[in-house]
Amino acid sequence: MDYAHILQRIHRDIAPLLTQGRVADYIPELGKVPATHFGMALVFADGRSHCVGDAAVPFSIQSISKLFACTLAFQLLGEDLWQRVGREPSGNAFNSLVQLEYEQGKPRNPFINAGALVVTDVLCSRFVQAETAMVQFLRRLSGNPAIDYDPRVAQSEREHADRNRAMAYFMKDFGRLEMPVDKVIDAYCRQCAITMSCEDLARAALFLAHGGVVPWSGERVLDASPTKRLSALMLTCGTYDAAGDFVYRVGLPAKSGVGGGIVAVLPGRWAVCVWSPGLDHSGNSLAGVQALEWLTTLSGHSIF
Ligand code: DON
Repeated sequence: MDYAHILQRIHRDIAPLLTQGRVADYIPELGKVPATHFGMALVFADGRSHCVGDAAVPFSIQSISKLFACTLAFQLLGEDLWQRVGREPSGNAFNSLVQLEYEQGKPRNPFINAGALVVTDVLCSRFVQAETAMVQFLRRLSGNPAIDYDPRVAQSEREHADRNRAMAYFMKDFGRLEMPVDKVIDAYCRQCAITMSCEDLARAALFLAHGGVVPWSGERVLDASPTKRLSALMLTCGTYDAAGDFVYRVGLPAKSGVGGGIVAVLPGRWAVCVWSPGLDHSGNSLAGVQALEWLTTLSGHSIF
């Protein structure tokens, strides 16, 4: 399969779509990123990779952090994690409050904001600094020791986190959070503000395509069965309430973020990350989804 050629073709054909999406500006620092960026990195378990465009440019990983936070929490709690957070698609926007009330403060899944706050609560109760644990974890997974969070983005998030705060207080009232709300919100804002490139993120996600083991370091992140389960959760819940449409078009487990990144994996073969900051109405990268659809269509490789 000539992936190099496929990625070049995608890079060439994607240009008209780059200005059609809308850059997230509800976190003002994110709104400063030019919509015209496009990068894509595809990494194989043996270390080979193909990159196009801005694949080496760091960007705000935002909700892609939810995937790695959930991985850490799954490591810590195993199946008990599901006592704290569900594993069903929400069918609502990622920052919606409505379901929380009639489901007694238990979030539908770990990839919406409410669920990620519960996951961050788990990490805050186990680590002195949850965001430091996350940064170190991502450095190990990607092999890039320079990964860190952007303090300006974290501050911008904290200043505009009232909806997340509302969810956290609501869940706290239902007894769903163990740690103080301020601590959870602070750690959550920092973990969302981690910056990584497409190359970093594709490498960091490779353990999911490799039975739970980081191929080059041999580190076992998760056993094969929880790795399968986490990937299944990405398939059903990883792209907000557009997960059905995303799977229909792309056919891969994936996790997206409002910074415009999407990480996806083809189990047994490769991990890919695409980045384009312009978002569609559901908060997924407009050009990113199209690029992944072209990738699986042109290669004929998806999970189906
Ligand atoms: O909390 C927020 O709204 C952002 N830091 C992250 C949102 C995002 O990427 C999509 N959420 N699932």
